Amino acid sequence: MFYHPRTESEIVSLKKYLQQRASEGSEDDIDRWIRMVATNRLTGHSSGFFSVYTLPPNQATSPEDQKRINEKRGQKPEYRNVRDIILKKTRSLRKDLTPEQISALGAASRRAQFTCRDAGKVQEIPSCSVRLTVTSPPFLDVVEYSKDNWLRGWFNGIDAKLIGSKITMSRTAEQWTGTMTKVFHELFRVTADGGYVAFEVGEVRKATLKLEDCVVPAGLAAGFHCLAIMVNEQRFTKTSNIWGVGNNALGTNTNRIVIFRKGRG
Ligand SMILES: C[S@@+](CC[C@H](N)C(=O)[O-])C[C@H]1O[C@@H](n2cnc3c(N)ncnc32)[C@H](O)[C@@H]1O
Repeated sequence: MFYHPRTESEIVSLKKYLQQRASEGSEDDIDRWIRMVATNRLTGHSSGFFSVYTLPPNQATSPEDQKRINEKRGQKPEYRNVRDIILKKTRSLRKDLTPEQISALGAASRRAQFTCRDAGKVQEIPSCSVRLTVTSPPFLDVVEYSKDNWLRGWFNGIDAKLIGSKITMSRTAEQWTGTMTKVFHELFRVTADGGYVAFEVGEVRKATLKLEDCVVPAGLAAGFHCLAIMVNEQRFTKTSNIWGVGNNALGTNTNRIVIFRKGRG
């Protein structure tokens, strides 16, 4: 329901190749780049994706819902060349980069550290070592990340159910504030004196709950000073139109960035 059979067979071959490289320990930077681009091209709403018209890649719909979308739009997946799409996207991602920037990014990546810990306990990060954290937590239970990413999980051999059990989903503002308070204590531990945290949230429950009202007390309780709340009015995109949401009607209409500092600065 997502792919032409020939496209699907190309995707499965690529998945197997990448899996084999990873399991042999021979996966290199080029393999990782291809994995990243392919993961991002799996499903989408234009001919730049492997799939027939569907929701954007971070919101893979279920096979049943895709059958319904196909019926409603009278569409059938046509052949998409996986290799050509990966090359085209690669060129567009690199087009504005100078050779100096590419080598600077390469150097930065050698010092970069990736972890997949719970944000409430990231033991790899030493205390007082971070000058700036830019982050955005799940907004209560608005998005079910493991469900929306099932196809990306499949492609990368990741068990979405297992990941789902580790993702924070809070039904109530109280539960959410409790979890975020733990996260703020960890942020306080890792932040250097004079360092900053930019914590992005939205309004949820049809704008009746503004999450910064929970974030500010949680940050203060951990010891941070709150410097500002930036409010960004959101104009809706293609995705929200798919959901049938008009501008400033339902969903997240504004997002807010709460800025904290550790110490007086
Ligand atoms: C609003 S999104 C932010 C996405 C982020 N800006 C990005 O570009 O990847 C919230 C993210 O928090 C992750 N998440 C959920 N629970 C978490 C936890 N306990 N610790 C760390 N991250 C978590 C979700 O998987 C999701 O990717």
